[in-house]
Amino acid sequence: MKTAFTSAALASIISLASAHGYFQSPIARHPSDAYKSACGEQAYNNLNSDINNNIQGLEQLTATQSDFKAAECNLWMCKGLKYADNTANVHEYTPGQEVDMYFQIVAPHSGYANVSVVDTASNSVISANLTHWDQYALTSEPMRAEWQNFTVKMPEDLGSKCAEGGACVIQMHWDAPEAKQTYQSCIDFKMAGSAAKRSHARDMKV
Ligand SMILES: *[C@@H]1O[C@H](CO)[C@@H](O)[C@H](O)[C@H]1NC(C)=O
Ligand SMILES: *[C@@H]1O[C@H](CO)[C@@H](O)[C@H](O)[C@H]1NC(C)=O
Ligand SMILES: *[C@@H]1O[C@H](CO)[C@@H](O)[C@H](O)[C@H]1NC(C)=O
Repeated sequence: MKTAFTSAALASIISLASAHGYFQSPIARHPSDAYKSACGEQAYNNLNSDINNNIQGLEQLTATQSDFKAAECNLWMCKGLKYADNTANVHEYTPGQEVDMYFQIVAPHSGYANVSVVDTASNSVISANLTHWDQYALTSEPMRAEWQNFTVKMPEDLGSKCAEGGACVIQMHWDAPEAKQTYQSCIDFKMAGSAAKRSHARDMKV
């Protein structure tokens, strides 16, 4: 009995720890030196060995680390992952472009999720719900293809806000309340605005 309980408890811990996912395509942010320097060695090792890990786990891990620099590492923006480590993977899009995505769910956990454009300087959503799911990665039913493979349409009203790499990311935000875990995955991109349309809108306003 004791053994059975122990392994059941262990199994549930393992299943919590492994409930996660990440963008496989387009290629999203990964950790390297800038991450290590801002978020510390432990956080770096953690994501380097499993990029899918959850934000709360990173918070717990970094809380006791003297090389974790809170002012430089916001775990609630892309898990703290840095543009500086990912300049080789800045995707280029046009307003209105449809982008196919593959967000791999390694292990499901019931929750909700959305994909948005986030301004990295302020960590604020500037284009919400490119797609979203009120029910996501439910453990009560078979995996739905649309949770992992979906298409988003790039917004057409961002002007030149995302013209430079590093200014904006496409962010997946998946919250699994029953596991008390949150997962983010961020894609670096740049997108020139539609200048004619914008200046027209500005003229109209004035
Ligand atoms: C959508 O994602 C943002 C982060 O990108 C998060 O702050 C927000 O809570 C999410 N909203 C819902 C309804 O999931
Ligand atoms: C995004 O979707 C969520 C979930 O349905 C909803 O609560 C929220 O109001 C939406 N946000 C915007 C800006 O449409
Ligand atoms: C999702 O897309 C990826 C990459 O294109 C592919 O390998 C995978 O089989 C797709 N999954 C589903 C459920 O269609």
